[in-house]
Amino acid sequence: MAKVLVIGNGAREHAMGRQLLLSKQVEKVYCAPGNLGMLASGIEIVPISELNFEKLIEFAKEQEIDLTVVGPELPLQQGIVDNFIASGLNIFGPSQAAARLEGSKEFAKKIMREAGVPTAKYASYQDEEAAVQALAEVTYPVVIKSDGLAAGKGVVIVENQKQAKITIHQMLGEHQFDTKSIIIEEFLMGQEFSLMAFINDDQIIPMPLSQDHKAAYDGDRGPNTGGMGAYSPLSQFPADLADQGVEKIIRPVIQTLQRNGISFCGVLYAGLIMTEAGPQVIEFNVRLGDPETAVVLPQLQSDLYELLQRLLEHRDVEAKWQASDVYLGVVVSSETYPQASASGVELASFNNNPSDITVNYAGVAQNENGELISNGGRILCLTTSASSIAQAQSTLYYWLAQHKMTGLRYRYDIGDKGK
Ligand code: AMP
Ligand code: GLY
Repeated sequence: MAKVLVIGNGAREHAMGRQLLLSKQVEKVYCAPGNLGMLASGIEIVPISELNFEKLIEFAKEQEIDLTVVGPELPLQQGIVDNFIASGLNIFGPSQAAARLEGSKEFAKKIMREAGVPTAKYASYQDEEAAVQALAEVTYPVVIKSDGLAAGKGVVIVENQKQAKITIHQMLGEHQFDTKSIIIEEFLMGQEFSLMAFINDDQIIPMPLSQDHKAAYDGDRGPNTGGMGAYSPLSQFPADLADQGVEKIIRPVIQTLQRNGISFCGVLYAGLIMTEAGPQVIEFNVRLGDPETAVVLPQLQSDLYELLQRLLEHRDVEAKWQASDVYLGVVVSSETYPQASASGVELASFNNNPSDITVNYAGVAQNENGELISNGGRILCLTTSASSIAQAQSTLYYWLAQHKMTGLRYRYDIGDKGK
């Protein structure tokens, strides 16, 4: 029987651990550093930081871990996969070189241009004056992005030249986002959605399409967050859109990386916008999405552990996904999120969910009585499935209404765009 190590500590990693435990081949799932909410699902948490590669490798060797799977972007950007492989360990995730597809927007744009993949027109600048001069040519709204990881906060959609100049100054003059260069990009209009795929070079296994809700408040208003909820699959789009996305976007990108001497193993996440001219890429991530994972992975009816192992060994893989229901996930966050984290709200009532509701925990801690309390921005994600979005919403929102929400909040419109 196999032992698996999941790296990360959020609701995404809770959902990953839960899915891996369903495998008949898996006896134990560890999560480092994990969170206390995972314990009730039978996941063992290991108090090692996701960036302490030396200690993680020591642990994987001591415990004879058969497979390590990485959730978040930061360890990937810092080369966790290269380090594990150099130590002779089996790990599913992209190398540091491949992870630049997420870590550098400029690198991602270069690969997309070479691959002929549809994406917004853009230009990049290191110099504030040159960027401001370029504004003479743009039509508003326009998108200004800092290059590098910024937890969703390095992207500003500006409506006029005044706003644009302020944003450019913040990014290149005051260096508010720890960036040396910015991208000024054409604004694309349409519904956003996510296409994720398990990949080992030429082997590409697409997952069902999903849709995140990035804005903090109902009606897509307010600041960008890590994601306030998601649903999957997306019945408003053609049934073959995921396969089209693989052939027109994912495969050309993987092949272009290969031509540049970079092989890709792991999950590729294409953040897409359905424009009048078809899907265009907004961003790539090199990992599973959060909260998308909570509504996508439970749809897998075949064995996730086997799928990942077979991919790593370049053996034939088939994934079987459910096709009758829609999966809906609503994130409960601290009231002050994304501006600030908060803690101390008791979460005991979320431990007695009805059997059709699953909870994946994120920002949680324990009080002095050993009870789970909130501690962070995004606290947990509740998911359910039903034959329609309306039915799934009614189940989840009815249940949420039973809880005392002081200090916490959630969006009331998750899934509305798919109805
Ligand atoms: P990113 O960090 O590149 O994923 O951007 C964060 C969010 O900004 C996206 O989820 C979109 O909502 C929005 N965004 C980014 N680029 C564009 C674009 N070119 N056109 C319209 N919206 C965009
Ligand atoms: N849900 C967006 C992300 O994981 O980046």
